[in-house]
Amino acid sequence: MASLPVVDAEYRKAIEKARRDLRALISSKNCAPIMLRLAWHDAGTYDVNTKTGGPNGSIRNEEEYKHGSNNGLKISIDLCEEVKKKNPKITYADLYQLAGVVAVEVTGGPTIEFCPGRKDSLVSPREGRLPDAKQGAQHLRDIFYRMGLSDKDIVALSGGHTLGRAHPERSGFEGAWTKEPLKFDNSYFMELLEGEKEVLLKLPTDKALLEDPEFRGYVDLYAKDEDAFFKDYTVSHKKLSELGFNPS
Ligand code: HEM
Repeated sequence: MASLPVVDAEYRKAIEKARRDLRALISSKNCAPIMLRLAWHDAGTYDVNTKTGGPNGSIRNEEEYKHGSNNGLKISIDLCEEVKKKNPKITYADLYQLAGVVAVEVTGGPTIEFCPGRKDSLVSPREGRLPDAKQGAQHLRDIFYRMGLSDKDIVALSGGHTLGRAHPERSGFEGAWTKEPLKFDNSYFMELLEGEKEVLLKLPTDKALLEDPEFRGYVDLYAKDEDAFFKDYTVSHKKLSELGFNPS
């Protein structure tokens, strides 16, 4: 079925310019991990039942970026502001999701299709909608099912931890999940299967993916087949970036 474009040609042009600006910024500042985390934390507040939260740019509100789970993300909000200044037409909601897509792309991950047209909101959800790293499989399901996402989405998206690291002053955890935290590949799953290593991080929620049989099937698959991971990650990331937004 043909769908109507949600944005005009001029807006599309601004998106392409912002995409180039983001590529340059992310490469020069090596900030792909925190940009991906920003996109995920803006989107991951979505509640499928009340249709509130989601990728709407509300994380730029002081009230929201001061939530404990968003510690450190002000850095990425400020970096995105540089791009917004050069491309004032585009919404924050689109900008943050575009930053997430570009972060995956420039670090060697799959190309994720980006549909523009998200609206900005200044209404922030109450604290507590994002996952707590100290909990287990049931908590992951409670949180991701509330977004309308599936077991497969949970495992594929957890592969986002192929990038970046935890900072003690932000989350209380420390270290990277993989040996090359600026490279997007399937090493998160390979390391998970190899078990504890002093130098690499495993959150309780990462370990829950090994212990739960449903999750474990996907971990095994993604560790041995990077193409399968990239294929599923692309679908899950696009879903996450479009929660509550129907571009067609
Ligand atoms: C970092 C928890 C899912 C992407 C972190 C940190 C924690 C965390 C505690 C460390 C923050 C810091 O100290 O700077 C969780 C939990 C998840 C989850 C409990 C539940 C499954 C995701 C998803 C993505 C993602 C779905 C993206 C698709 C990242 C990235 C970083 C990160 C890229 C590194 C940020 C940096 O290097 O500054 N996460 N996360 N996470 N997370 Fe997650």
